[in-house]
Amino acid sequence: MAAFRFLTAGESHGQTLGVTIEGVPAGLPLTEDDLQVDLARRQRGYGRGARQQIEHDRARIVAGVRHGVTLGSPILLLVANRDWENWTRVMQVEPLDDAAAAELAALAGEGNKRAAPVTRVRPGHADLAGALKYDFNDVRNVLERASARETAARVAAGGVARAFLRELGIDTWSFTAEVGGVAIDPAAATRSREEADASPLRCPDPGAEARMIARIDEARGNGDTIGGVFEVVVHGLPIGLGSYVHWDRRLDAALAAAVMSINIVKGVEFGLGFEQTRRFGSAVHDVIEGRGEDGRWVHRTNNAGGLTGGVTNGEPLVVRGAVKPISTLARPLPSADLISGESVEKAHYERSDISVVPAAGVVGEAMVMLTLARFVIDKFGGDTLDDVRAGLQRYRERIARAPEAPVPGASGHGLVGTDEAASGGDD
Ligand SMILES: Cc1cc2nc3c(=O)[nH]c(=O)nc-3n(C[C@H](O)[C@H](O)[C@H](O)COP(=O)(O)O)c2cc1C
Repeated sequence: MAAFRFLTAGESHGQTLGVTIEGVPAGLPLTEDDLQVDLARRQRGYGRGARQQIEHDRARIVAGVRHGVTLGSPILLLVANRDWENWTRVMQVEPLDDAAAAELAALAGEGNKRAAPVTRVRPGHADLAGALKYDFNDVRNVLERASARETAARVAAGGVARAFLRELGIDTWSFTAEVGGVAIDPAAATRSREEADASPLRCPDPGAEARMIARIDEARGNGDTIGGVFEVVVHGLPIGLGSYVHWDRRLDAALAAAVMSINIVKGVEFGLGFEQTRRFGSAVHDVIEGRGEDGRWVHRTNNAGGLTGGVTNGEPLVVRGAVKPISTLARPLPSADLISGESVEKAHYERSDISVVPAAGVVGEAMVMLTLARFVIDKFGGDTLDDVRAGLQRYRERIARAPEAPVPGASGHGLVGTDEAASGGDD
């Protein structure tokens, strides 16, 4: 069982979202303010819908922390849904008694869209498959959980992972790399990280951002939606996180699954990604310059995106997520009715975002950080933050040292600094 894991709960218009995080070492300073920054970043971005004006997400820490420091016990975070006030009857947990059922039916009869069962399934959403799988005749039961509102809980958990990784000198950021076919030009990416973070699309290239905004406006004008690409970059990772020895210990595989798990992501790339398939090997592989004076290994380029053989190689980790256009369209596509099975002119519509690339990037950061935290804890273990820190420090010192020159016929173990090394190896 993984030492570090998390599970979320909560419906989009239910009372609250929750997340339990297990395996965070004791001794990590943690406050609700630490979690606030990323939750606010997830809510922003040009192209978001009206829901973001209702919600002011804040995670409450209700377990696992005492006097601002983690206890090593499971951490429980709650993120309240302010919109719940408008959905109390529709989303109530208690069974509907006759009076409540009659009230709901009357509301639906008056044309209250919240109260009416949803049966016109939306193309591109989980509606049809979810309803059939769980035997629902009201798609509300699917869309409430399939909704990306759940990603607020992931981002809250990601804030815990950020606080942990920060203590180890590991730093994660993301930006919008593309919207609707308009890509940033790295040479024109003149904004600092702070400036990009404060910009409407969290984009480092101001010219490209203006053209991206025009694409979102075009989508909005047509009652349509539009996708794009976000890029997550991580600095400060040691060489050697993850392993090539088993498929499920490869860090690239775990990160791809984590980013792919974000509702709306349809592809994941590392470094040059699919572009590698169009070039000769000589124009792809990162030449290894050698060990620098500080013991750090240097590559000439970072086309691999910081991972080779499923293992970090000491270069920054670069992960991109492909974000499809939102599937709820203001001008709905034709679809079919779940009950009659007949085609209908318009799929269901309810308040929706138009484009969410910057927000998806923040969720991407969270999923990357949570995955990295798991791999760091698996590798360096430790019940306390100090144990992890000491393990990482020892490891960094070891890989910064030159191994003994190998002896033909010996096993090939470095044995640096051990008795065996002093006695000439294990031959
Ligand atoms: C931050 C964020 C906000 C989203 N907002 C909406 C939305 O307002 N309307 C919508 O239909 N889908 C939205 N989505 C996407 C859906 O949740 C997603 O497309 C759906 O669950 C189906 O999953 P899939 O796209 O992975 O197949 C959003 C996704 C993210 C990451």
